[in-house]
Amino acid sequence: MKLRLFAALFALACAGSAAAEPVLLPKPRSMIVDAGSLPMTGVFKARITGCPQPLIGKAVARLQADAARLRTLRSKAGPALAIRCAAKDAGYLTLAAKEAYRLAVTAEGVKIEADGPAGALHGLATLRQLIGTGAGAAAIPFVHIDDSPRFPWRGVMIDTSRHFMSVATVKRQIDAMERVKLDVLHFHLSDNEGFRIESKRYPKLTQIATHGQFYTQDQIKDLVAYAAERGVRIVPEIDVPAHTAAILKAYPELAAATDPAQPLAAANPALNPASEATYSFLEGLLGEMTALFPDRYFHIGGDEVSDGAWMKDPAITAYMAAHGLKTRVELEAAFHKRARDMLTRLGKTEIGWDEIAAAPLPKDVAVEVWRFSNPIADAVRAGHPTVVSSGYYLDHLETAAEHYAVDPADLQADGFTPDEMARAQTMSPLLTNIARPLALKPVAPLTPEEEKLILGGEGPIWAELVTDEMLDQRLWPRAGALAERFWSDRSVRDPADMQRRLAVVQTQLEVLGLQDLVNRARMAERLAPGQAKTVLTLLSAVSPTRHFAHNHTTFAMLHGVTHPPEQILTTPADAAPTDAPEVWRLEAGAARAARGEFAEAAAMRAQLSAWAENDPAFAAIAQGKPDLEAALPASAEVAAVARVGLAALDALQARTPLPADQAAHDAAILEKAEKEAAASARPLFVFVTPQPPGDLIVSITPAVRRLYDAATTAR
Ligand code: ACM
Repeated sequence: MKLRLFAALFALACAGSAAAEPVLLPKPRSMIVDAGSLPMTGVFKARITGCPQPLIGKAVARLQADAARLRTLRSKAGPALAIRCAAKDAGYLTLAAKEAYRLAVTAEGVKIEADGPAGALHGLATLRQLIGTGAGAAAIPFVHIDDSPRFPWRGVMIDTSRHFMSVATVKRQIDAMERVKLDVLHFHLSDNEGFRIESKRYPKLTQIATHGQFYTQDQIKDLVAYAAERGVRIVPEIDVPAHTAAILKAYPELAAATDPAQPLAAANPALNPASEATYSFLEGLLGEMTALFPDRYFHIGGDEVSDGAWMKDPAITAYMAAHGLKTRVELEAAFHKRARDMLTRLGKTEIGWDEIAAAPLPKDVAVEVWRFSNPIADAVRAGHPTVVSSGYYLDHLETAAEHYAVDPADLQADGFTPDEMARAQTMSPLLTNIARPLALKPVAPLTPEEEKLILGGEGPIWAELVTDEMLDQRLWPRAGALAERFWSDRSVRDPADMQRRLAVVQTQLEVLGLQDLVNRARMAERLAPGQAKTVLTLLSAVSPTRHFAHNHTTFAMLHGVTHPPEQILTTPADAAPTDAPEVWRLEAGAARAARGEFAEAAAMRAQLSAWAENDPAFAAIAQGKPDLEAALPASAEVAAVARVGLAALDALQARTPLPADQAAHDAAILEKAEKEAAASARPLFVFVTPQPPGDLIVSITPAVRRLYDAATTAR
């Protein structure tokens, strides 16, 4: 095997013009690259055997259309593409789906041998990446790939309640999901801010408080079918008993009385568990909703019921006494038992957020762990199929590399360390109290047998700070990093290599329709009509502050303001990426320059100069525009950090150390930028730490730090 790879590399070196190493994400289980490539002058001559139709025929048609969009195909006659499914698959769109496939590209053409239709879709997704992007006809490298996923549940959760996401926007996300082999769209359809799916039985749910923004049942059926054709299951969530302010606005008679002494409880009220009306409503609602979604799993929510939502209602207190329920958790368990019995009668299996596992549950109930990593062990050791979303909250605005570092089976990856708990105690009693339930404890690692209960993972994008026009750029490219984490072996974990491949795949997703760049450009144009380029140059070097620091509504609520200000989602911090490929490129170049390799030095210098020189132009257009004026300090800081990078690169290349006075001056610039980034690096701590102006941090700082450290270290 290895010999063939060496032979290929040798041939490459000799020929000097053979195909580049294919860029794939997620990385396949095994790939052998042979010398040579298959010219792709036109669309494929496809032959499909043993696969369900029209499913795979349509998938091939999508591939053909994509190939034409990705490449300049000058002739009609392209290479042969033979797709064979080994078997029908009654488990398509379930956890048991036959997802494995083998793909071979040889002089004879492309051959995909799939275990079942899901495998055929994945093989086509891999082929799409092998076709690549760019002007000129493609040459698909000769490869032999043998691939199957580590986990069957590879999801993202889209919150449609805080901001409504149009059908077209959701479909774009599904298109991209298929292309990186994500297979679950957890659709969060109801919450305090809105109930987003038409109920014919309870029409007030969407007549009230949705501004007409909801999915009709026909649109839902269309979305479910659209996703199913792309190998994506839609798992709906109707979140009860808390997170129900929208339901209770429509049907206030179902509400529990919240504790007036706890104003936060009013912001997250709950259904009244002591009233039979609640259960007949739920029975009717679940009956109607489950009929719209064919998936076996139905997400019942179950998160964040507070004492303030239930424990001061006299009717609830009486109900608890009558039923021998001593605590709120016991009451929650009793509520969920009734909801679960309804789902069971409706033929569904329940999944819920990890709070539902506080009381014993039937083993088939799936638990989605979200609060921190320790509860993965609790859920698994109680025998539950477990979906991990802790560590993958995309709305925390961390980088792709940070999420990528979290393994779904790691019981310590997400949560507060003992050091952090000690630090919290020195800062704020309130912070300590909120953090305490999330304090990591030593837990025995999962055994391989236990690990089998982990179904996979999900990256939730809660939409408090995500509008429809922002979804593409808040979900991607980071969802691509999660796709690899959930598909590829745990040993695939080099962040620099992931970033290199993700940049390429992200470009392909953009060429095929993802709107992250387009919508960011529109946001920049809105901020500075006619001068968007200057704004975009700044945005490529900054990120929004992380972990809710940019969420002024939450900030205000935590500081006791019960009517928080409306968020305005048009500022530079909203338009700024958490991850910019420009930054990844700088990081890769800096790592090489630090090793004395300067092939990228000219490109780095050009990019750093563009950032350094952008500030005067930005300052000129910011005058009189408050949103842009708020970003002036960040713009000046980007210029300063970029100049530090230029000086360090010069020193490195000239092999002369930075003069001591300049080194000290530059160190101060880096330390200030690092302190500002650190201020939002950890959840909760953000609320007691001063944040930088404009909610912006300079994202090129780590790369420049690398250059600086190399330039100041004696060589
Ligand atoms: C959650 O983030 N409240 C599940």
